[in-house]
Amino acid sequence: MKYSLEQILTVLSEIKDPDSGKDLISLNAIESLVSEDNKISFSINLPKNPFLKSIEKACIKTIASKLSEDVKVEIKPAIKKIDFKKISFGRTDEQKILPGVKNILAVASGKGGVGKSTVSVNLAIALAKTGAKVGLLDADVYGPSIPKMLGVEDARPEIKKINGKDIIVPIEKQGIKMLSIGFFVKPEDALIWRGAMATSAINQFVKDADWGELDYFLIDLPPGTGDIHLTIVQAMPVTAAVIVSTPQQVALADALRGVSMFRAEKIEVPIIGFIENMAWFTPEELPENKYYIFGKDGLKDLAFRMDIPLLGQIPIVQSIREAGDEGKPVSLDETTPMGKAFNDLAKEIAIKIEERNANLDPTKKVEIDPDASCSA
Ligand SMILES: Nc1ncnc2c1ncn2[C@@H]1O[C@H](COP(=O)(O)OP(=O)(O)OP(=O)(O)O)[C@@H](O)[C@H]1O
Ligand SMILES: [Mg+2]
Repeated sequence: MKYSLEQILTVLSEIKDPDSGKDLISLNAIESLVSEDNKISFSINLPKNPFLKSIEKACIKTIASKLSEDVKVEIKPAIKKIDFKKISFGRTDEQKILPGVKNILAVASGKGGVGKSTVSVNLAIALAKTGAKVGLLDADVYGPSIPKMLGVEDARPEIKKINGKDIIVPIEKQGIKMLSIGFFVKPEDALIWRGAMATSAINQFVKDADWGELDYFLIDLPPGTGDIHLTIVQAMPVTAAVIVSTPQQVALADALRGVSMFRAEKIEVPIIGFIENMAWFTPEELPENKYYIFGKDGLKDLAFRMDIPLLGQIPIVQSIREAGDEGKPVSLDETTPMGKAFNDLAKEIAIKIEERNANLDPTKKVEIDPDASCSA
């Protein structure tokens, strides 16, 4: 019997920490939760809590009484909370992480709704059209939208057994392989659970999914600069990042935060460029007219100041949204102006990645120094 993460978290939410009086889920204490056949493993992150042993016992007892006596419960030591100053790089098992993947590209933004997912999906398709093998991971735990954009909302990835291990098979659509947090975390799931589920799902997508050989593995990140971003850079060595923004001042401030995150000491993922989305509006009946709804060249100026290339400017076009809503992204048809815009952007990105690889060392996966002290 295999229990869903939601079932397990529901049971664990009944257990209170005597120290704070709060339950384990409200405390965000459950980490690395993995459910297998008749086996559940997780860790409890409550540093220096004097009641840890009795909380562990309560977890085992409650799982036995609420789920099953037969399920084996393994509570692993918690990974210490990250102390940013003490993050160090390690290359120990790097070869084993996504061995067939050549380039991992994170698509990020600071602000939400600026078009990250639209750009990710169109870029993935456009890169595949050049003959490259492309994978796309939708890591947006708060609003996974890639399945809809590819018209595979109802798809469920198959699980196959390889050497006795459960392996997730990515969905294949429009020439790309794709997995989404949306397949595993449901919109009705409480926000507080999503973080724990997302971390565990992302690690599974990286370690236990059959991506095979890929030239480009794109990651559509959630907005902001939060835990998921840190999970991603710890889970795999991200080759490079692109940052999507609109020219609007508030979006630019957030884009800058995105830049700071990737450039932070010990993270150091090279940013190969900005992409300005919703750069202007052109009505279909007046194709020569450009209306700068969110301001003109905002990102271009920022790009110049930060010494980051501006890889492309994508206007607001009704067909981009419609195509996304219908599950047929515009990049599929290179004969349309928008299709061409994304295909040109993809070629530019492929060049920038090659330049990056020629000039810089491979990125290392971020690892937490085992001697780092708990910051919580
Ligand atoms: N250039 C564009 N022209 C017209 N509509 C666009 C354009 N780019 C994105 N959209 C639309 O804007 C909405 C938001 O885009 P999208 O979901 O790609 O943004 P996001 O940054 O991924 O958002 P979130 O932060 O919620 O993940 C979608 O409905 C999308 O179809
Ligand atoms: Mg999105």
